[in-house]
Amino acid sequence: MGPGDLSRILCGITLPKDPNLIVGAETSDDAGVYRLTDEIALIQTLDFFTPIVDDPFSFGQITAANALSDVYAMGGRPILAMNILACPVKTMDVSVFREVIRGGLDKVQEAGALLVGGHSIEDAELKYGLSVTGVVHPDQVLLNAGARPGDRLILTKPLGIGILSTAIKGNLTGPEVEAAIVEVMVTLNRLAAEVTQEVRSRGGEVHSCTDVTGFGLLGHLSEMLLASGVAARIFGKQIPVLAGVRDFVDMGIIPEGAHVNRKHYAAAIVNRSAGLDWLELILADPQTSGGLLIAASPDAAAAILHELRAQGYPLACADIGEIIAGAPGAIELV
Ligand code: CO
Ligand code: CO
Repeated sequence: MGPGDLSRILCGITLPKDPNLIVGAETSDDAGVYRLTDEIALIQTLDFFTPIVDDPFSFGQITAANALSDVYAMGGRPILAMNILACPVKTMDVSVFREVIRGGLDKVQEAGALLVGGHSIEDAELKYGLSVTGVVHPDQVLLNAGARPGDRLILTKPLGIGILSTAIKGNLTGPEVEAAIVEVMVTLNRLAAEVTQEVRSRGGEVHSCTDVTGFGLLGHLSEMLLASGVAARIFGKQIPVLAGVRDFVDMGIIPEGAHVNRKHYAAAIVNRSAGLDWLELILADPQTSGGLLIAASPDAAAAILHELRAQGYPLACADIGEIIAGAPGAIELV
């Protein structure tokens, strides 16, 4: 689940209300959250897509890491997962579907969750996804809303997955680039989420969290800022970017989705520094299984980054900016 398309479809459809519903479909949050008791809230989310890499095992891993991520983005812990599989049985061997499922299971197990079933149908095109159920303390749910002026913004994975995927499809790169983006996409947001909870349990103030996926950093940051009624200042030089991305942007190797996102969110960017066009495209680049975007007090943000690195987190992560008072949703790019 994510912002955008589905909320446009839901427009005009009245969804039921319930006093125990903490997060519903209206707020473009990453998952639904429902209070079961004063101690436990249920998190539910679902995501599926067509293959983004050729290797079926990696595709399964990426899809599962991506689906699990929405539970982490709400401050929760995944418990159960179910497969959703569309199989082109006439054109593909059953061994391909088995590898996809094995890849998904690998990540579900790494997350400490249980795969408890699923459903498959015949389809012209391979599609795979998971429905994930998680838990969180009702008082610990992290929403898009809640970011405050003075917070720092942390991003836990480098950007550029969409741009490099486009370069791979055009046969413009070697296998090392595919290996690099697969590593980023299959990395669970588990450690980032656990470290964040650890810092909160020691009194660190974490105010908002989401994960960066199809709408790019620009889109998901924008959702956070609008929900929180604040603005942000992003420091372009501090944004972690995958190797080679800048070169492909300069060559015009840019996925359609990045242009769409940029156009959609362009009005939000104010006070552009000169010569940062290339960076705007990277900020708009659609990510698959991207990192967490966390708004936290400066102390908590520093502690999260310190702990992540101390615990051997394998990917680039950084303090990329700050929340400021201003027109809700406005993004200053410096
Ligand atoms: Co989502
Ligand atoms: Co999400």
